Amino acid sequence: MLIGKLLCISPAQSFSLEVDDIAADKSISHRCAMFSLLTDKPSVIKNYLLAEDTLHTLEIAKTLGLEVEEIDSHTMRFTPPKKIKEPNCILDCGNAGTGMRLYAGLLSGVEGFFVLSGDKYLCARPMNRIIQPLQSIGARIHSRAGGFAPMAIIGSQLDGFNYQSPISSAQVKSAMILAALHAKDKSTYIENESSRDHTEKMLIGMGAEIKKHENTIHISPLTKPLESVDFAIPADPSSAFFFALAAAIVPGSEILLKNVVLNKTRIQAFEILKQMGAKVTFTKTSSPYEEVGDIYVAYAPLHGITIDSHISWLIDELPALGIAMAVANGKSEVKNAKELRVKETDRIHALLVNLRALGVECEEREDGYVIYGGTLKTSAKPASIQSFGDHRIAMSFAIAGLVSAVEISDYACISISFPNFDAILCRIQSVKYIV
Ligand code: S3P
Repeated sequence: MLIGKLLCISPAQSFSLEVDDIAADKSISHRCAMFSLLTDKPSVIKNYLLAEDTLHTLEIAKTLGLEVEEIDSHTMRFTPPKKIKEPNCILDCGNAGTGMRLYAGLLSGVEGFFVLSGDKYLCARPMNRIIQPLQSIGARIHSRAGGFAPMAIIGSQLDGFNYQSPISSAQVKSAMILAALHAKDKSTYIENESSRDHTEKMLIGMGAEIKKHENTIHISPLTKPLESVDFAIPADPSSAFFFALAAAIVPGSEILLKNVVLNKTRIQAFEILKQMGAKVTFTKTSSPYEEVGDIYVAYAPLHGITIDSHISWLIDELPALGIAMAVANGKSEVKNAKELRVKETDRIHALLVNLRALGVECEEREDGYVIYGGTLKTSAKPASIQSFGDHRIAMSFAIAGLVSAVEISDYACISISFPNFDAILCRIQSVKYIV
């Protein structure tokens, strides 16, 4: 198990790195485990993400009847049950909002009784965004008052739907698409601004009858099991972004990030870093279901930026972009980003509290913030940073430690999505751990 605190004490020297071991994509790993329950043949998955979130999802899939065999150290075979098994225990999603919301959609239309729960952070996150639309199509879901987990689901026959989502969220969209696969009639899901699209891409690749026109998705109920998934999961662009940030803020540095998901709903943060002045280039290769390739990032002086659209394409990277904004020259502003308040923690609060600990001037808004760049102080005494149990806050500020000393508490949460983060960080700068 990991140590409690991480200490970065000396600013990094310029570096030139090629990294081919960024953790596998978390969103795609969750979906590989869940969707292989909807097939009737074994799926072969290479590079399944062995991090806390996706291990919880895999454990739940096993409880629901999925047989998991290790073929070699990188490859697993997922053999589905004939019928999803009713569990005799609580299904523990850990910290994973994706695990909980997608399983709620998937299980609402399946015969059986299911209880989904998670850690204290997940049980404080809003579930009404899926409970209400699922209940409106006949799902029987009970939760704690206010729409919080644990949630109990009694699988029932669902109706087809025509649902326009008030929020742009891949988790809500995916929950509804999975429910639609078990509904009586056809369904339509509409979102105002597109969110990440792995669910529809993968399900279409597996033979589901799903048609997409811009932000409108038509889903037909399953009439037969889906085709199996055979997929080598590429690196997670949200994890890769921490090291792109490192190259962009440490003068004279460059990095080549290999074999990363290049789906356009996932690489917007790299585009923003480019607009802020960093050198960023993409080299595409291809792979089933998803675009994949290498990303090169090199240092150049950064300037401030305003971000007010495509927030769902940036939702996981905005904390790390906050570090780039603090280092950049001039003012940056983020608007329309209220969703940040209901992630693993309130990321607006967590980002600004920690930036202030580094001396950065910033202002909080209900739906975003203003950061005055160039105000980050470098001091020999490490700034005390709190992760708030949020893996992306911990890793964003570990990278900030490459330019100004930090001591991060509750650091072990990085293993939620990126267990080998520090092994890569240590190639740039040595770190200390405090038990
Ligand atoms: C995810 C969707 C996003 C993202 C999360 C993973 C997914 O959440 O923040 O880390 O895999 O569908 P929202 O869809 O709620 O924005």
